[in-house]
Amino acid sequence: MKILAIDTSTDETAAAVTQGTKVLSNIIWSQASLHAKWGGVYPSLAKRAHQEHIDWVISKAISIAKCDMGSISAIAAATGPGLAIAIEVGLNKAKEISLLLNKPFIAINHVEGHLLSVLARPKTSRQQKPNEVVGFPAIGLVASGGTTQLVLIKQVGTYEIIAYTVDDTLGEALDKAARMLGLGYPGGSVLEIMAKEGNPKTYNLPTPMLGKENRLRFSYSGIKTAMYKLVQSEQPLTKEKVHNLAASFQDKTFQHVERLVRKVLDAHKVKEFFLTGGVSANINLRKRIRKICKERKIILSIPYSKKLCTDNAAMIGIAAHFKFQRGEIVTSTNLDLIDRVPRAKVDEKFAWE
Ligand code: KG4
Repeated sequence: MKILAIDTSTDETAAAVTQGTKVLSNIIWSQASLHAKWGGVYPSLAKRAHQEHIDWVISKAISIAKCDMGSISAIAAATGPGLAIAIEVGLNKAKEISLLLNKPFIAINHVEGHLLSVLARPKTSRQQKPNEVVGFPAIGLVASGGTTQLVLIKQVGTYEIIAYTVDDTLGEALDKAARMLGLGYPGGSVLEIMAKEGNPKTYNLPTPMLGKENRLRFSYSGIKTAMYKLVQSEQPLTKEKVHNLAASFQDKTFQHVERLVRKVLDAHKVKEFFLTGGVSANINLRKRIRKICKERKIILSIPYSKKLCTDNAAMIGIAAHFKFQRGEIVTSTNLDLIDRVPRAKVDEKFAWE
């Protein structure tokens, strides 16, 4: 059974074809260069760019998957969280196709997509059943530009948010720091390269949530402001200073993740840890989480390709596969019930479910 999945939650126009947990195609039109001069996603530009590229990514996804619309069994789209006017482009297109083909529609929470991205398999792999490889319960970290949260995954489809950010997300913080250092946007991956050359002990940036260690919350706005002041005081920046500033910032922000991960794992006995979201592409973060999992004999699962870490539609197709199996679909005659949910939470059902 093949699913055509669409995601336009923020600044990636994405379509994919999946079959079970296999990824037959995963096409992404990135708008990053369009938003670079704003240092963040500019909503109306994102909407227009989605409208311009949505048909292209869908036909590319179909042709790379070597199938045709007739062989698609269901259409899935991310309905939230994300930018309302961006989500609606993909959602409306998915509804349109569902109606045209008279095929069921599956609404997916974008964060659930990230969490289940670790279950995706390359198209050449043997099809695996989820319980064959995954031991539940698991803890999932979604660290992206849009969110930073730790989620207890009781089983596929049953979630509980354990920790979340009270202000900025980790991806946002890394991107802002990268911008301060003149590394462009989105700069998380460039910051990682710079940090490799630097000494993280050079600068003493504040520890997030100091004195509030018992709260299971992420916070990155304080360290971001401190970084801004530090960068101002270090002008003019040399290459060496950029390396050391990048290393110091990345180190402190990741220490905060480690501390919360340890705390959550102390409280929840789990078998697996899912490391997901754009920031999970970071090798340094992976090493830190791997160490924690090794100490506690927990299996670490990471998406098989970096393309599955950042926003993509294959992860929506994987989540849709499990919803389809549970019969959680909307028929093409009931599509009016579906709407975008910009603040959707992964542990809450959509209003129409
Ligand atoms: O999942 P994603 O596409 O999130 C949203 O758009 O919501 O992730 C994008 C984020 C950006 O903040 C980007 O800088 C960060 O993931 N990112 C990285 C790396 N690759 C992407 N951050 C640190 N190291 C990386 N290698």
